[in-house]
Amino acid sequence: MDCFVINGGSRLKGTVTVSGSKNAALPILAATIMVEGETVLKGVPDLADVRHMCLMLNRLGVETKREANGDLRIVVVDEMNCHAEYDLVRQMRASVCLMGPLLGKRKKAQVSMPGGCAIGDRPINLHILGMEALGAESELTSGDIFLKAKKLTGCEIFLGGAFGSTVTGTTNVMMAAVLAEGRTVIEAAACEPEVADLGNFLNACGAHISGHGTPRITIDGVKTLHGSEHVVIPDRIETGTFMIAAALTNGELTIQNCRPEHLLAVIDRLRCVGVIIEREGNHLTVSSARRLEPVEVTTQPFPGFPTDLQAQIMTLLCLADGNSVITEKIFPDRFMHVAELSRMGAQMRKEGSTVIVHGVKRLIGAPVMASDLRASAALVLAGLVAKGQTRVSRVYHIDRGYERIEEKLKSLGADIQRIAEPPGSSPS
Ligand code: EPZ
Repeated sequence: MDCFVINGGSRLKGTVTVSGSKNAALPILAATIMVEGETVLKGVPDLADVRHMCLMLNRLGVETKREANGDLRIVVVDEMNCHAEYDLVRQMRASVCLMGPLLGKRKKAQVSMPGGCAIGDRPINLHILGMEALGAESELTSGDIFLKAKKLTGCEIFLGGAFGSTVTGTTNVMMAAVLAEGRTVIEAAACEPEVADLGNFLNACGAHISGHGTPRITIDGVKTLHGSEHVVIPDRIETGTFMIAAALTNGELTIQNCRPEHLLAVIDRLRCVGVIIEREGNHLTVSSARRLEPVEVTTQPFPGFPTDLQAQIMTLLCLADGNSVITEKIFPDRFMHVAELSRMGAQMRKEGSTVIVHGVKRLIGAPVMASDLRASAALVLAGLVAKGQTRVSRVYHIDRGYERIEEKLKSLGADIQRIAEPPGSSPS
């Protein structure tokens, strides 16, 4: 396993280019199961999760080839296997995105239940509800969900749950409905840009989808989907992570290849903190006044503040001049980073799904452990600004969702090295 060794104190300056969105690329890759002919995907980031999804597609009879220019060429060669096995699914929860396309195209799917993860329970009851509404029979046996249908028939589906909309639940139902007979209307659909990007990809393949990116999505079933070429949208969470890095280190960054309209809630909160943000077309310039104001942050479904930036903004607010309040409405237990930040001198008090952050003058470098993708990003950010040296172990978590983050940070002036974890250095 690798770890990052970071010597804090450098101000980040310069220009960084954001990679393609992991959470747009994963469902789009799954959707290629339904395509007859070749798909070419551009801007797909080279991440552990993307490589994992390609491995799963290969086992499901889908050939994937990464070209020298970074394009991904994808074609279905065999439709026999419909089983997404536990040994792969348990490593990446997003494998659940395979359910909709397998059922939609092959009329059967066997997907291992993803189980929980560091950010909390990850139920898929709404996914199953949608599949059954379209006419599938479902059965849970030995940890696998079996779905089958003689045919799928469009209908009206309300997909809202106790925590609001479901992103991958919406993508699964949308994909299953594309090849169903008749019209499907998804009410209380997730509005995330990644859902909209999937809808755009499917329409490029000949689907008839409207309203994607809004709470009501209408899908008129078609017989087949043909190959197409698609450029994946930039990663809004990576963009937000670099915006916070600039603010934390009192630096000055130009962030290229981003979509500011995907980050309005983040821009709003950071401006309240005192971060200076200029929008120009598809890039942002970010710098910060020395003094950071405390703020309230509550995570919500899009267009609200994204839960995937909750840990990162918590790191920033650890250094604000006063008390901030962070409330997590999507994954109420998503606070594994709190204890690790406290090891670096942060002062926080957790009360249920709310954390009161009492700003301190500085963080102190320490050995800390990554627990999930976004928590590890928050710890790297803390190391950039902490006094002294920070060692973040188990950085395989961060490699799942950030493309070469240490190289990008180094190019901006950060003192960060990736080294092999010394044996026995982190508790099992
Ligand atoms: C997607 O996960 C993202 N992953 C997550 O990003 C992101 O945090 C999350 O959406 C919320 O924005 C991908 O897109 C691959 P949900 P997803 O279904 O779809 C509850 C990252 O760091 N729920 O929108 O699994 C659920 O428990 C990852 O990149 C049900 O109750 O999230 C949660 O409380 C982490 N029943 C809420 O809904 C269901 O059937 C939102 O979950 C499904 C979800």
